This record gives sequence, C-alpha cells and structure tokens, in this order.
Amino acid sequence: MRLDKFLADVGLGSRKEVKQLLKKGLITVNEQMVKDGKQQINEEQDQIAFADEVLVYQRYYYYLLNKPQGVISATEDNRDQTVIDLLKDEDYRADLFPVGRLDKDTEGLLLLTNDGQLAHRLLSPKKHVDKEYFAKVQGIVTEADVQRFAEGFSLLNGEQVKPSKLMIKAVDSGAGTSDIQLVIQEGKFHQVKRMFEAVDKKVVYLKRLRMGNLWLDEALALGDYRTLTEAELRLLENK
Ligand code: URA
Repeated sequence: MRLDKFLADVGLGSRKEVKQLLKKGLITVNEQMVKDGKQQINEEQDQIAFADEVLVYQRYYYYLLNKPQGVISATEDNRDQTVIDLLKDEDYRADLFPVGRLDKDTEGLLLLTNDGQLAHRLLSPKKHVDKEYFAKVQGIVTEADVQRFAEGFSLLNGEQVKPSKLMIKAVDSGAGTSDIQLVIQEGKFHQVKRMFEAVDKKVVYLKRLRMGNLWLDEALALGDYRTLTEAELRLLENK
C-alpha cells in the first residue's frame, strides 16, 4: 500500500496532515527518512516509524460504548454532543462511526467502528441480527401483548413489524408500570417505542443490552467505552 495511506490508517492524521509530517522528515521506512507519500510499503514487513516510534498497523477499530442519554448517534452535529465526541483524543479517528442508531434518550450498547463491512452485516435486514432491549413501560404488559409481539402486528401507521420475543420481567400494579426485555430483528425508526404505542403503552426508559452475540458490558459506566476483545469480535462476526 501507499505510505500516506498507511499513515492515515494508523491514525496519524488526514492525508493532508500526513503530507506535512512526511515533508518535515518525521517518517522513516526501515530507518530511512522518506518524504514521498506515494512510496509503496509492505505493512507486514516494513518498519514504519513516526518520530522514532514504530507504528503498528491496524486497519479496523471496534469500541463498545455504553451510550448515555442526551447524546446522538451521529458522527457530527452542530447542536448536540455525538457518540463520536465521547472518544478520547487518542482514540478519535475521522473514519469511526456508530453501527446503527439509538434515540437521543436511549442508553446502552452501541458499537463504534470504521469497519463498514461488519456494520453492513449487522444492520442489513436480510441478516436478521437480534437486538435486545430492556425497557420500563408505562402500562401493564400482559401475556396477550407477549402473544401479539410473537405473531407480529401493525404499528399505528399501518407499518408491519415482524415477530419478536417479549419477556415480562416485573410488573408494578400500584405504579402501573412494567419492566420488560424485548428481542427484535429489525431496526425501524423508534421501533420499540412505536411497538408499545401500538398496544397502548408508553416506553419511559429504554436501554439496548445486546446486538447479535455482543452484550453490553455492565461494568462500563454510562458514556464509557472500551475496545472489543478478540473473542467478542469473533462472536460478532458469527452474529
Ligand atoms: N427502538 C426505539 O424506539 N429507540 C431506540 O433507540 C432503539 C430502538
């Protein structure tokens, strides 16, 4: 690959910034200063260094984020803080993006990556990847709702949702609320909230627990993130 692509891929900066570093003589290939970004290198064999520090090539990055409320699932926004803004400077890369969207007021598992193919495999409706949520719902969720969700039904606007697995975790008849878990394989806009609206109830708190085989790490505080382990990455790739 080209040296300037390698340097951008390892996160040294944009192609333009990388060009400046090369020009300043800060880059060496096998201990020889190289100023031309077009030079071809072998990322497996050549030793590339920036200011005497050897660069290790990593094409893809995967972060497991516990998304807090009030932050939007986008890469840029003029008004609101985005999930990308939660990254520390040393982890920030311009090509990272969230895999799918959680609403601004939804918490929980969100994967950040620069691996477009993995994102596509996880988000494509054809792949039927599970998304599991915990919700607190205003209203008493009943076995009739469980049945209805298992069969699939129409949202209030007539849109059809596929069968899903609804589990009642706790019901507080005094407060008139229910704690539930729900597994869906689709990702329609506001899907969980709209599913409960269709059975005359209201989601008042929503958190994503799982995507495919990847579970939220409950040790992560809201707003915190960590790199996926090799084992988690393999699990994700097998859905
Ligand atoms: N369903 C919703 O309604 N909101 C989310 O953020 C995710 C799923």
